[in-house]
Amino acid sequence: MGDQGSSWLPDAMSSVAGEVDALFNFVLITSTILFAAVVISTVYLVIRFRRRSDEYVPEPVRESKLLEAVWIILPTVLTMIIFTWGFKVFVTLNTPPPDSYDITVRGKQWFWEFEYAEGVTVANDLYVPVGRPIKLLMSSDDVLHSFFVPEFRIKHDVIPNRYTSVWFEATEVGDYRIYCTEYCGQQHSSMIGTVRVVTQEEFDDWLDQQNQDLPPVELGARLVTQYNCQICHATDGNRIVGPPVNGLFESTREFDDGTTGVADDNYIRESIVTPGAKVVAGYPNAMPATFGSLSTRQIDGLVAYLKSLE
Ligand code: CUA
Repeated sequence: MGDQGSSWLPDAMSSVAGEVDALFNFVLITSTILFAAVVISTVYLVIRFRRRSDEYVPEPVRESKLLEAVWIILPTVLTMIIFTWGFKVFVTLNTPPPDSYDITVRGKQWFWEFEYAEGVTVANDLYVPVGRPIKLLMSSDDVLHSFFVPEFRIKHDVIPNRYTSVWFEATEVGDYRIYCTEYCGQQHSSMIGTVRVVTQEEFDDWLDQQNQDLPPVELGARLVTQYNCQICHATDGNRIVGPPVNGLFESTREFDDGTTGVADDNYIRESIVTPGAKVVAGYPNAMPATFGSLSTRQIDGLVAYLKSLE
């Protein structure tokens, strides 16, 4: 991660961030001034015109055309400025430039999946070239998620059965955090990704590399890191949420329905694709069935990697 910006706002790292901040600061400053003016005059008037004795009868209030005009015109002008300015920024945020590079985003319990037009699919690490508008076409495979990159000032719901989209143009090379900002279940807080902004050359190299065929065990190891499997499954024999995955292959498993079975290739595959089919005794049936959508090659890689863990 780069530095964390000020304690006020995170660094502004996209082409639209400056406009968003300017509008935010304008609204904040004008509201603060108005708030102070209202509170100070209230306190002053309460003290100044308090009832001093039981016999005191105040003068009748007389209208002031000037005062009335001021409190009608001033807020009207202010709200129209905010509306016009806000509408302009809204349109900018919702209109990706025509030459933008499209990436498909899928929110899943509990990771982000990014698919590039070149046929590359990765999880949680969104590589993008610097200085180029990127349009994200987003949907969810299960429940509501929300895609938020504070440094870019973009945030949008990711919804099942519907596409939503956001766009951004990163202005500087660096790593920026992606948060899920819609409570989406047990591991919501760990649904964190990273936008890795690199130069166009580095980006092209990265895409080439992704297309190269990795040996299955290495591909599996990479997927385990990308999909955050280690959050629930330890490789050192410890219990976390789910059972540890080392020493799995050819071990005898006890299931919660009292049956037992040997962990062969088919058992490992089934436990990835339909995790609820056989639940290890003493553990909750907590794993989402999202991994059924992985490609055959990815599943082969995961099985090969899991078999290699001792
Ligand atoms: Cu996905 Cu919270």
